[in-house]
Amino acid sequence: MESPFKADVLKGKVALLTGGGSGIGFEISTQFGRHGAAVAIMGRRRQVLDDAVAALRSQGIQAIGIEGDVRKQEDAARVVATVFKHFGRLDILVNGAAGNFLVSPEDLSPNGFRTVLDIDSVGTYTMCHEALKYLKKGAPGKEESTGGLILNISATLHYTAAWYQIHVSAAKAAVDSLTRSLALEWGTDYDIRVNGIAPGPIEGTPGTRKLVPEEMKSKTREFMPLFKLGDKWDIAMAALYLASDAGKYVNGTTVIVDGGLWLSRPRHIPKEEVKQLSRLVEKKSRTSPTGIPSSKL
Ligand code: COA
Repeated sequence: MESPFKADVLKGKVALLTGGGSGIGFEISTQFGRHGAAVAIMGRRRQVLDDAVAALRSQGIQAIGIEGDVRKQEDAARVVATVFKHFGRLDILVNGAAGNFLVSPEDLSPNGFRTVLDIDSVGTYTMCHEALKYLKKGAPGKEESTGGLILNISATLHYTAAWYQIHVSAAKAAVDSLTRSLALEWGTDYDIRVNGIAPGPIEGTPGTRKLVPEEMKSKTREFMPLFKLGDKWDIAMAALYLASDAGKYVNGTTVIVDGGLWLSRPRHIPKEEVKQLSRLVEKKSRTSPTGIPSSKL
């Protein structure tokens, strides 16, 4: 689908995306690039990075791939420094790197729990911490009064509770909390906007492939409020909105892009039955206890 945004909304901007080489992260990298940004992607797997960079460059997008693990502070520091060295500035940090697998709490060791928190929550914090000196207003390569943007990819699992996702729910709850605290503190002190995006089930991502087995997909569509899964494009458009001037007054918000799924509950009574029921109740309320319609009394 064609983007509704002008092709130059991110012209001159430099974006660093963790987990930007595959899935939702790669779509955001692509759309940022198509809208004028230079893109650096950080990930653990060289081959994934190389393939992603080749695909971006083939579309005329300026792109580099840098190996690194968000769990290692020295990697985070090296990667942001490399981006600055290569492009001369950093405007947008997207924290998309995440760990996920389905598991019951009784089968999840404390180390497994910690591993996901280390990637999602501590990793997000570490990247923000190391990127601050390049993102803040007046940083090298940046304007005196204009800071950059941080976008944290979250989830909706922790708004209620989710089966087999205790580790990810806890990790994303911490991510949302980071989004709000940093928005307050770094928005005020450094003119850095900090926002999040909470995707629902998105078609064709490693996350959905892993978490929603093929045979469940048709059922998933049935109970979705819009009867469909989201596309990676939907998340990338939300990211573009937040990263462009369209979102210049949005700070500390996590935008939910899930078609309304997290709000949904099973419909226990068919719609027709509700209409009949409410007509019956209405009729009864217009009739007095003597059986004579109240209008005739
Ligand atoms: N079920 C239960 N425990 C699991 C697990 C699973 N599927 N996968 C990992 N763990 C536990 C391990 O048992 C280990 O705990 P232990 O030492 O007590 O046994 C701990 O997590 C660390 O595992 P390890 O394989 O050493 O970690 P890793 O750093 O190599 O990789 C992940 C961990 C989370 C990154 C990896 O399992 C993963 O899922 N990668 C894919 C990321 C992904 O799907 N991204 C899409 C996000 S939506």
